[in-house]
Amino acid sequence: MAHDFDTVIDRSGTHATKFDDRQRYFGTEDIDPLWVADMDFAAPACVTQALVARAQHPIYGYTLYPESLYEAVIQWYARRHHWQIQREWMLVGPSALPSLAATLQAVTEPDDGIIIQPPVYTEFAAIIHANRRRPVLNPLIETDGHYTMDFAQLEQCASQGARILLLCSPHNPVGRVWSTDELHEVLRIARRHHLTVVSDDIHCDLTYSGARHTMLGSLAQAGDKIITSISPGKTFNLQGMGLSALVIPDEEQRKAIIRAFESMHLDQCHPFSITAFETAYREGGEWLDALLAYLETTRDFVADYLRTHIPRIRLVRPQATYLLWLDCRGLGMDDATLRDFFIRQCKVGMNPGAIYGAGGSGFMRMNIGAPRERIRAALESIRAALAR
Ligand SMILES: Cc1ncc(COP(=O)(O)O)c(C=O)c1O
Repeated sequence: MAHDFDTVIDRSGTHATKFDDRQRYFGTEDIDPLWVADMDFAAPACVTQALVARAQHPIYGYTLYPESLYEAVIQWYARRHHWQIQREWMLVGPSALPSLAATLQAVTEPDDGIIIQPPVYTEFAAIIHANRRRPVLNPLIETDGHYTMDFAQLEQCASQGARILLLCSPHNPVGRVWSTDELHEVLRIARRHHLTVVSDDIHCDLTYSGARHTMLGSLAQAGDKIITSISPGKTFNLQGMGLSALVIPDEEQRKAIIRAFESMHLDQCHPFSITAFETAYREGGEWLDALLAYLETTRDFVADYLRTHIPRIRLVRPQATYLLWLDCRGLGMDDATLRDFFIRQCKVGMNPGAIYGAGGSGFMRMNIGAPRERIRAALESIRAALAR
């Protein structure tokens, strides 16, 4: 079946954050928004059909997570990621962030140290602060456009009593797919220092050819404390559905997180989300493969375009995610000027790298989850602005 990622779909009237929040975030509506991490593509047709069918049943009352949903998730991860998840390890709940926030509350105490690896997804630091925990920084090392973990410094953070490593795997925004060797090293450090690793793998299905994502949870040995966050949101463009799952093999941690969920009534769910979630995992594989081929062509197009026409901006070539990390340090602008330049001169709305913490200064994050012609137009606009 052919899937259409080229047609521009008008999102107006749907209250899409990416479009309707432009004024607040950029101070203008007059930009092409390539920021918030959802895609301007239609979700898989199988999901839309299943939602229409569900909507036609006119009762939308309290709904359970059916066993068939757990089954669909387990089969997906066994098939696509060679990871055998046990049914009892799973806790289905709201979207990834509230589930991660509840996890912090359940398995740590106020003021406990939570390690993050900047430049990293902004909301990691936000939920740590909001839950009165303490971010402990283990900045990534950048060497000529390639990012690696600083294991020696990670070990120091762990030895000084941090309780959790909040791992972003694959990493948003630098696009790294961590190798099995790197993940084993993380586990060795975690074992030596009784560190729990909370691995946010919600971008795991968006891995490009040439890279292979390994679920950290699949490398676990008895006694390891690994909590994995998974979600079909990024994979199938269903972020608004607000559903994800935690995989928590350790029984004590699982019980604590279930109690946290119950205390906030996070165990209630939306009948449409369940339908979307289960259908996507059961029937969306072919759509995903087509999406990945499309995104990969766009990624390579951007790389070529920058190399040929805008060499002062360098693409950190992502191994996963539709988020491109653009090294704009060659433009010689400070962060405020850089942000202003892209908004006012180029009319392209991207996330400024500085918001991702240490190491983000001088970078911009571009979301290529949009028809390729829009990405081309954005690049042409940047090129023209630089030529003026
Ligand atoms: C790494 C990562 N974790 C979590 C989230 C938020 O996920 P959710 O919308 O399911 O809460 C995002 C969204 O961009 C993300 O990139």
